[in-house]
Amino acid sequence: MEFKQVVGRRRSIRYYLPFRPVEREKVQIVLEAARLSSRAVNADFVQAIVVDRDALSEEDRESLKTPTTTAQLDLAPVWIFWLIDPTAPRIGQTSLKQLVDVGALTPSHGWSHAYVDNVVWPQVLQPILADPGTAVLVAGVEAGLAINQALLAAVDEGLGTQLTALNAANAKRVLDIPDHLIPIWIQLLGYPAEDPEAGGQRPRSPFEQIYFEGKYGHPYERDEMVVERLRADGMIMSEAPFPWRKEEVRALSRMFGLPE
Ligand SMILES: Cc1cc2nc3c(=O)[nH]c(=O)nc-3n(C[C@H](O)[C@H](O)[C@H](O)COP(=O)(O)O)c2cc1C
Repeated sequence: MEFKQVVGRRRSIRYYLPFRPVEREKVQIVLEAARLSSRAVNADFVQAIVVDRDALSEEDRESLKTPTTTAQLDLAPVWIFWLIDPTAPRIGQTSLKQLVDVGALTPSHGWSHAYVDNVVWPQVLQPILADPGTAVLVAGVEAGLAINQALLAAVDEGLGTQLTALNAANAKRVLDIPDHLIPIWIQLLGYPAEDPEAGGQRPRSPFEQIYFEGKYGHPYERDEMVVERLRADGMIMSEAPFPWRKEEVRALSRMFGLPE
């Protein structure tokens, strides 16, 4: 699929065909896409555990739910638990030197092994490691980048996907997650039972209300010709709700025995 169409067609899918497995190849492609996302200091801030829904006991599955994670967890056959490692900058000294060695970080921009040891380590990485709040913030951004690539890869592979919250303490217990890692989101994977457009693109605040130019509060002017081009290219699609969305949701609820 074209990049713009992948961006345009992605929806948070909440109804999956519970009986249709996801091919291992597609799961791997999703992980491969995440692995290639940009990463601060090239460290492993983000890891993941792929879980087959049916491999867990009902009790464990229920223990992972939250007020916002309900039926979608039962319906999706594959769950990817995304984990962050706020201690990852500890390997930054080595991973940055690797970037120097392969010619990604270059002397023209001030980089050398000595610069990593004498400047970047004490002035940038050690302060991050010393402040857990900052380290979690950095790791959370890393996760966002990796997960977004994973979401888009799933759409590109014709899958439905969604991020959903989890009970982190129970996830740690059920999946034997080491203490230095924090489970932050579950990415669901499966074939959509709802129309892949899921009733249309979801509402967003007006462009000019959230994007500025020059100074805060000065709107970045939205060119309607560009908008039209993106419509033609499939990135900007029809907005929710489609006229038949209520009927679709009612039918899906009946099909799965969920409240209407
Ligand atoms: C980090 C993150 C966490 C989310 N957690 C939940 C969740 O717990 N339950 C849920 O139903 N949707 C969850 N969502 C999906 C959002 O509600 C959804 O992105 C939003 O409704 C916009 O729709 P769209 O993704 O189809 O564009 C989450 C999305 C993100 C990015």
